[in-house]
Amino acid sequence: MSAEAEMRPPIGLLAELSYRCPLHCPYCSNPVALGDHRRELTGEQWCRVLTEARELGVLQLHLSGGEPLTRRDLPELVRHARRVGLYSNLVTSGVGLTDRRLAALVEAGLDHVQLSVQDSAAERSDRIAGTRSFERKRAAARAVKRAGLPLTVNVVLHRHNADRVAELAELAVRWGADRLELAHTQYYGWAALNQARLLPAREQVERSRAAARDAAERHGDRLGIVYVVPDLYEDRPKPCMHGWGRRHLVVRPNGDVLPCTAAGEIPGLPIENVLGTPLAEIWFSSESFNRFRGTDWMPDPCRGCPLREVDFGGCRCQALRLLGDASATDPVCALSPHHSVVTRLVEQAQAAQAGPDAASGPMVPRR
Ligand code: SF4
Ligand code: FES
Repeated sequence: MSAEAEMRPPIGLLAELSYRCPLHCPYCSNPVALGDHRRELTGEQWCRVLTEARELGVLQLHLSGGEPLTRRDLPELVRHARRVGLYSNLVTSGVGLTDRRLAALVEAGLDHVQLSVQDSAAERSDRIAGTRSFERKRAAARAVKRAGLPLTVNVVLHRHNADRVAELAELAVRWGADRLELAHTQYYGWAALNQARLLPAREQVERSRAAARDAAERHGDRLGIVYVVPDLYEDRPKPCMHGWGRRHLVVRPNGDVLPCTAAGEIPGLPIENVLGTPLAEIWFSSESFNRFRGTDWMPDPCRGCPLREVDFGGCRCQALRLLGDASATDPVCALSPHHSVVTRLVEQAQAAQAGPDAASGPMVPRR
């Protein structure tokens, strides 16, 4: 399908308000080199972005980061989102989400909170987060429930917590969550640096998948559980972002607009900024949003594959990271001529679990 035939409005905007964050999770997908991203759009500029996004057709706004609560003007942004008709979801570590701050956000029209938890017990969670935060997360969950907002608990799974899915489900029930998202690490940014130390072994993945199924049976009447598989263990890739330039867009703290969170790493991909170009023009006409839109850009074996409009050839950023070529078939696909790159990674993870080696050394914490 050509890029033109694929052209439709986006439904979701991931607004990365700030890369500042009180946590130091080694699986963070934020860029390792912050460079220009220390500069942040003003509140007024963000409001213009939200207006343009809604006019473009966006329905869901994910206020993310870093930690979006580092922005003192968050209530004004939420208020503006509500005014223009966007459903707003706060994606937060919970650090700083006091009753007072939450009340201001609720009054402004916040619709939903997604709270990250690093593990099922305080000490282990704090160790991964690189700071004492578990108790503040628990308090944040209480505040969200008191405020009557729907709550999703989000856990990024990896080698150091994937065996505690049952306990994580118990925690989500205790904390009054409506939904639990268990998503294996995506290896971009800091996570890519720590991949050898984060990637679970295959048996661990199978155990976590089975535990998620059991938890869904046990708690299904009060907790929705979403389990996102680690694609490196699959033989077909994930439909990353539901296809390039199909449904979602990302705006970075400085106003750069990307088709996905990691696209800024793709060499030679021109990046437009909301300060210079209207959002609609970026979505419909920019080179960055059109480069991998539709199916015309696809190489073999995707080009003739019946699944090309199901997974869209997988993830461009993963193809770049593992093969050095963003336009290659995602090597997770068993049909890729480079699939052995992925099988080697998985074998290394198995070996690392079997005994102490370099891959079980300390992780690089996000700064
Ligand atoms: Fe998907 Fe391409 Fe693999 Fe087909 S060949 S399953 S389209 S990645
Ligand atoms: Fe960029 Fe998947 S993260 S296409």
